[in-house]
Amino acid sequence: MTQLTTYIGTSNHGFAQYAQDELRKLFPLTKFTLLVPTEVFYFQVPEDTTDVITTMQENEPIFLRHVQPVHQEWELSHTDADIAHLTAWLREAYAAGLFGYGEKIATQIRKEERADVPYAPFAIKAAIDEILTAECGGEPVVRYADHIISVYISAKKVYIGISKPSENLSDWSGGAIRFMKEEDQISRAKFKLLEAEQRFGIDFSIARKAVDIGAAPGGWTSLLLERGLKVTAIDPAAMNPRLLGNPLLTFLKKNANDVKLRENEFDLLVCDMSWDPRQMGHLVSDLLFSLQSGGTAIVTVKLMHKKPFQTVRDILRIFEDSLFLLKAKQLFHNREELTLYLQKI
Ligand SMILES: C[S@@+](CC[C@H](N)C(=O)[O-])C[C@H]1O[C@@H](n2cnc3c(N)ncnc32)[C@H](O)[C@@H]1O
Repeated sequence: MTQLTTYIGTSNHGFAQYAQDELRKLFPLTKFTLLVPTEVFYFQVPEDTTDVITTMQENEPIFLRHVQPVHQEWELSHTDADIAHLTAWLREAYAAGLFGYGEKIATQIRKEERADVPYAPFAIKAAIDEILTAECGGEPVVRYADHIISVYISAKKVYIGISKPSENLSDWSGGAIRFMKEEDQISRAKFKLLEAEQRFGIDFSIARKAVDIGAAPGGWTSLLLERGLKVTAIDPAAMNPRLLGNPLLTFLKKNANDVKLRENEFDLLVCDMSWDPRQMGHLVSDLLFSLQSGGTAIVTVKLMHKKPFQTVRDILRIFEDSLFLLKAKQLFHNREELTLYLQKI
């Protein structure tokens, strides 16, 4: 008999239909039920769980931010009996070897706004942590867990599953990665590059010299400077004055069409210009002579006309002689855009 693998998938608000399109391509017989319109959905794939995980990891969908497995689900009782169901299941899962003695376990609880239940998410977490520590020798953690227990409370049901962090595509609850806002942070845009660094596993410190196209007010530039890179920032708009005295920074206060760069000058190119994607693609393409072979590029692509797959294809065609795609992902900090991670041929 074919196994049925069940998940809850999450995308950025407004992009669930694209995540579903991508999943349907990987698993044509998938059945979907929306939980939160345009954002969170339940899906079932008539395939073995290991195959589903491997396929999703090897062909990671652009718009699927996070998945959590559903191993058990119940109709909501709207009483504390829901918590009793969850803790009884946890004991069975431990007995069945779904996780082992002494593990680091993160418990992630998500509750829909319209879920009318008398208990708070932390009451569920407290009940689960109590069993983990008292009966399983476990250590409740937030990050770097051996396993994640995922609980989701919808308007009608409660769902639970357990998985390794890498199997969820993101080890943050719902893929909603959070960074501390620094007191003197130059722009929120910095979070996009911080997230790309984590999500794509980039070690910026191995690069030496970066060019930042559309750099003002300087959030991305400030991160690259913090990582020890020399940065050439290009923008007709003003950079934050705090950056201007930095000896590692060269600021060209110009339109990127008008700058003169040297061949193979950089080993990293970043561009966060928030422009028409095709125009941005041609502008970046014209400057790629300055990026060394093997150097990498991080580019945000604005999704202006809600045809994201066509937009990505168009951009990759513009870049095809010079860059190949390492990863395309709509990050949590991307709004109506996505992020490409590319390498110079
Ligand atoms: C979204 S902001 C960049 C934010 C920046 N990444 C940060 O972290 O602070 C886009 C920038 O692109 C710049 N820009 C637009 N067209 C440009 C062009 N042709 N050449 C250079 N910069 C341009 C704008 O002036 C604007 O400052």
